[in-house]
Amino acid sequence: MTAIQVENVSISLGLGARSKPILDRVTFSVEKGESFGLVGESGSGKSTILRCVARLLNAWDGNIAINGRNVRDTPSHEYCRAVQMVFQDPYGSLHPRQSIRTALQEPLRIQRVDMHQERMEQALIDVGLNPDFLQRYPHELSGGQRQRVAIARALILEPSVLLLDEPTSALDVSVQAEVLNLLSELRVRKGLTYLFVSHDLAVVDHMCERLAVMQHGRIVEIMDRTVLATGEASDPYARELIRSSVEYDQAV
Ligand SMILES: Nc1ncnc2c1ncn2[C@@H]1O[C@H](COP(=O)(O)OP(=O)(O)OP(=O)(O)O)[C@@H](O)[C@H]1O
Ligand SMILES: [Mg+2]
Repeated sequence: MTAIQVENVSISLGLGARSKPILDRVTFSVEKGESFGLVGESGSGKSTILRCVARLLNAWDGNIAINGRNVRDTPSHEYCRAVQMVFQDPYGSLHPRQSIRTALQEPLRIQRVDMHQERMEQALIDVGLNPDFLQRYPHELSGGQRQRVAIARALILEPSVLLLDEPTSALDVSVQAEVLNLLSELRVRKGLTYLFVSHDLAVVDHMCERLAVMQHGRIVEIMDRTVLATGEASDPYARELIRSSVEYDQAV
């Protein structure tokens, strides 16, 4: 079954004469339970795709469907229960004056879900944090713990699709590995589908079964992760991206 279907999605952003095309007929689909990577240079449109799928942007042409249902026909309360997003910077996604309790409670309150205490405690346990963390504030947490809270909040409504935009790029390498392993484990345990943006091909290799390479708002190639090891991409830009990433890994 197809969890995420993106079909000929195009969007221009900016006002009036400054409006410019950002995505050009982007098409891909992600099977239920699969993790699909989006890579490509800065400004190629990776986050814009996630923002279209997350309905943070609406002025796109084309079709997007989640679990077979057109997103434009899905009421927003239902959509929030199906699709959630995790951002790069957990400082940005958690309000500094809000306790973790308030941050986790908000989606439950808005969606009128019951059993707040049990759900919040379980959400923290699911991401490897002690339920005592409910009392804490974001500045009392490490970067890795903050990102775990952001993941707990994204999962608290039990969505089937998670959109992850560079979820570990702001973290130290060792903490990054812990959070990536947590995400892999959660995907299996909860049967989640991931759309995973990263500039780091080693991370995508670890996290995704397939990936799309983007350049200037277009997908230039969709490939299996095994192509990252052989380097045998058909598109010249994709080949170059893989080659330079291998050289970089060997240099560090
Ligand atoms: N609201 C906006 N108005 C105008 N242009 C925008 C807007 N949002 C994004 N852009 C432009 O769209 C292009 C794609 O941006 P996007 O954030 O999707 O890139 P990205 O691939 O995620 O890059 P990065 O790897 O740096 O995060 C960029 O040129 C950016 O400047
Ligand atoms: Mg981005």
